[in-house]
Formats: sequence, C-alpha cells, structure tokens
Amino acid sequence: MRVRAPGRVNLIGEHTDYNDGFVLPVAIDREIRLHAQPRADHRCLLYSETLDEQIEIDLTRLQESKGEPLSCTGWARYVAGVAVMLMRHTGRLLTGIEGVISSTLPTGSGLSSSAALEALFATLWNHLDQLQLDGWTLAQLCQQAEHEYAGVHCGIMDQAASLLAQRGSALFLDTRTLQTRHVPLPSDWLIVVADTGKPRALSGSEYNQRRAECQQAVEQLQAVLGQPIGALRDVSAEVASLYLPLLSEPSRRRARHVISENARVLAFLDALARADAHAVRHLMRASHASLRDDYEVSCAELDQMVAACLEAPGCVGVRLTGAGFGGACVALVERARLDPFLKEADAAYRAQSDYTPQFLVCESVEGASVMPQA
Ligand code: GLA
Repeated sequence: MRVRAPGRVNLIGEHTDYNDGFVLPVAIDREIRLHAQPRADHRCLLYSETLDEQIEIDLTRLQESKGEPLSCTGWARYVAGVAVMLMRHTGRLLTGIEGVISSTLPTGSGLSSSAALEALFATLWNHLDQLQLDGWTLAQLCQQAEHEYAGVHCGIMDQAASLLAQRGSALFLDTRTLQTRHVPLPSDWLIVVADTGKPRALSGSEYNQRRAECQQAVEQLQAVLGQPIGALRDVSAEVASLYLPLLSEPSRRRARHVISENARVLAFLDALARADAHAVRHLMRASHASLRDDYEVSCAELDQMVAACLEAPGCVGVRLTGAGFGGACVALVERARLDPFLKEADAAYRAQSDYTPQFLVCESVEGASVMPQA
C-alpha cells in the first residue's frame, strides 16, 4: 500500500494554537510518501531514501515498554511515538510493516516535516489495522507523540493540517472547540514559501519556553483580575489594554502577541473572503512585526526575507511562518506577477544574506491519505 502526508504552511495565527486560539494553515503539495507491505510479525523495517537510512522498530517491545522513553533517535522517534500512542489508545498490537519512505518536503524549514511523518504512520496503521479513528483523534495522538517522543510541547495545528486539510482551501481551526472551516483561497493569488536557507535553531527549547511564558501571563492576569481565565484566548482587547501593563516582562509582550494575533486571524478571514489585498498585506505585516518584537521568534534572515518580498512586484503579503528562529516565510503573490516576484525577491534577499534562499510555489492539497493502487 501507498500512503502520503503533506507538510503545511501557516497563513496566519502563529503561536496561538497552544493558547486555545485560531490558526489558518494550508496543507501543501510537498509531502512524505511511504510504499509499504504488511509483515506477518510485529517488526517495522523502514528505509528512508532521502536520508539513506534504515530503521527497525519492534512493536511488541514498544507495547511492553508501556511507552517509557525508548532508545530511539532521529526520525525513528516519530514512528515509534505514533505507534505507542495508537496502541495505548486502542489497546491493540499493531501490524508490522516494511517499506520505503521518500519525500519532497524540506526538513528544517518550518514546514512541519515531523508532523507529516506522524500523520503518515497514523494514517497507515489506521487503515491497515482498521482502527476506525477519525482525523481529530489521529491528530491528537500524533501531537501526544511529539510531546512525549520529541519533547516539543507543540499545539495541534501541524498535525491537524496534515490530516484534515482539503484541496484548494486553507483550514481555519478553533483550537479550543476543534471546530474547522475550509476557507477557499482567491484563485489569482499563489502561495509561495520563501525559505531563508537558515536552519531553525533552538526551536525546541525556545518553543517550550514561549509556551511557559504564556502560562505565566495567564497566571499573572488571573491574579490582577481576581478571577480564573482558561487561556489567553479568553482575554478581550479591552481587558488587555487595561490589564496587560500590570504584567511583568516578558509575559506582557508574549500575551500581547497572542491576543492581537487571534484578532488578526479573524480579520484575515474577512479580508480573504473579499480578496482584499490591502487588508491582507497589512495583517501579515502586523503579524510579522508582533512575532519579531513581542514574541521574539524572528531572526535577521526572516526579517530580510520579509523586506525582500514586500519590495518585489506582485507581493500581496508576507510574514514568517511556523515556530520561527530561522526557516521560511509565507508570501501570497499575484499569479500574473509570479515571475518578476521570484526574480526580484531572490535578488534582494541574496544581496543582504549569506544564506541561499529557496522559493517554493505551492498548491493547497488534501490531508494525508492512502493512495489508490497504481
Ligand atoms: C510549531 C508547532 C505548532 C505551532 C507553531 C507556531 O509549528 O508545532 O503547534 O505552535 O509552531 O504557530
């Protein structure tokens, strides 16, 4: 059988998903594929063409270990993590497989290759062992695998995008209620991933620290308000303007980013529906500035890439995408002016940076699936 799972790019709503907020990712046509056969036993033998690396996982041992951290390293952690979560959730021992993995999804660019790998194996075993789990349950189990096996306390956005997205649209998620809406994209705008070439650094530890700082902001707000709040999602703009000045740094600025970013996602949905290029440009610019100044997850290269794209012809809007600390920006570009956009953004970035940029023009695709027999 053949299974595929896409990477994602987030249009807006950054670092909001672990604050019960709103996000708007798109699954892109850069994906990980697996060509596999079931085995008669419970071993997994997997070869990655991209890394030229073979791994072996014993599912019986994994189940017996009851999910205690194993000695898996590298990409084996994601496969083992998903297997453990599926077995814990269903109480079943999964079927062994052998297969080959190939990928067109760059790693280290903030396009969620780890979530795509998780979604790939969740989709595979859901089908092979007829687990009958729905997309949200799979996304939550994949997220748990990332927490326990990769040590990154991520939100649900990446796994949800890789599993639940639909072709031709962005996926609006309310990460508290898990409500989704498939939002069509204006047909004369293209999604361009503008990779700075600077690999993401410190993303795991800095990411977990941002998450902790948001929790501290919630606790400080509760103290000054004298009432419980569930998450930063619950803080209105009015409450924020009155009470955020009473918080200590950096919690004050972290909270200001999350609260303003949630409002920007909702405004962005309206702007998209009207294909209002002016509003989209303004909202993406404000999102980037807030991530740079208040959330402090940008870097010189991401700022240079934003500046290079904004100056180029046909750029509707641009901002850093994903966790930050390096990686890529997302730009919306007028279809008719794609070529001059690519030429000028590339030249302007190279003039400022020692890193080599890469531009990926992306289509939005459906979430992970078992592919029909060839
Ligand atoms: C990473 C995480 C997501 C999300 C983004 C930032 O991609 O995996 O859950 O928090 O960072 O928006």
